[in-house]
Amino acid sequence: MPKASALTSILAYAMIRATEATAAAAERLVGAGDEAAADEAAASAMRAALDAIDMDGAVVVGDGEAAGADVLGAGRTVGSGKGAKIDIALDALEGPTLAAKAMPNAIAVLAAAPRGGILRVPNIYMDKIAIGPGFAKDVIDLDAPPGDNALKLAAAKGVDVRDLTVCVLDRPRHDRIIADLRRVGARINLISDGDVAGVIHTAYPETRIDMYLGVGGAPEGVLAAAALRCVGGQIQARMACRTEADRQKAASAGIKDLTRRYELDDLVSSETIFVATGVTGGDLLDGVRRVNGSTHTHSLMMTSFDGMIRTIRSVTPQAPPAGASKPPGR
Ligand code: FBP
Repeated sequence: MPKASALTSILAYAMIRATEATAAAAERLVGAGDEAAADEAAASAMRAALDAIDMDGAVVVGDGEAAGADVLGAGRTVGSGKGAKIDIALDALEGPTLAAKAMPNAIAVLAAAPRGGILRVPNIYMDKIAIGPGFAKDVIDLDAPPGDNALKLAAAKGVDVRDLTVCVLDRPRHDRIIADLRRVGARINLISDGDVAGVIHTAYPETRIDMYLGVGGAPEGVLAAAALRCVGGQIQARMACRTEADRQKAASAGIKDLTRRYELDDLVSSETIFVATGVTGGDLLDGVRRVNGSTHTHSLMMTSFDGMIRTIRSVTPQAPPAGASKPPGR
């Protein structure tokens, strides 16, 4: 297992400045109806912020085929090149459609680990099931019927299954999952996009999400696993290839056994830093706000090596006009 010593809280704060800058750049395009432009703005901002960090960084899970792939795709090196060897999984703008349509839960997100600590996954689909902390290992089973998982979790929580809410991406491919959950009477929270947030919500009772189920992006699965490694919880996953091209992408990423079931520790095998900043407001994070020229952000920062979970609000004042005297203290 890679050593955690490469990770420090100083690095975590540098990472959160990166997601703050990314969210601020993406927010300029919220509601503009242009997913590619929002993706590109986010990727450029995250790239610039990561390059300002002293680290020998490598993107191992990147922006895939999104508009930002050229700047932050897997295989890119980031950082000054000086300092610790850090692997990074990122999605500069998780939920470009949410941002383009000004819908909730678009976030800028990344996870960092010492080299080798994050599973390299291609931009294909992944089948996932996730729950929050505090449950025995056998409560969920990726291979069991969705309704059975809901019944077991409800029993473990000591609640009626009708009071259990399962988050599912609203896609035709999930019709059978939805039907089986309805069979047992579980509530379903259908989301249009953004399953990193969907998984993280399982660890926060105030969101009223108890379980995440379904097929979403593999990169998002790794990012969600990093979050759960910090906050607690369980995730099980399996690559879900649809085409020969997907199988080739998996092979190129070094994934030999497509039937393998991954547990949290397989997806993120070392200590990790997880940071996310809201682009649009959601159940856990507020979106970016502009107040009298200042930029307000709301972020989540978690580090598994010291159990730190922090929500951070930041205010970046408007840059003074050229030639103006600086306010005291700056
Ligand atoms: P991107 O940020 O990579 O565009 O992903 C958005 C997202 O909603 C993910 O949260 C989710 O895992 C995936 O898309 C689902 O893919 P699809 O829209 O093809 O069903």
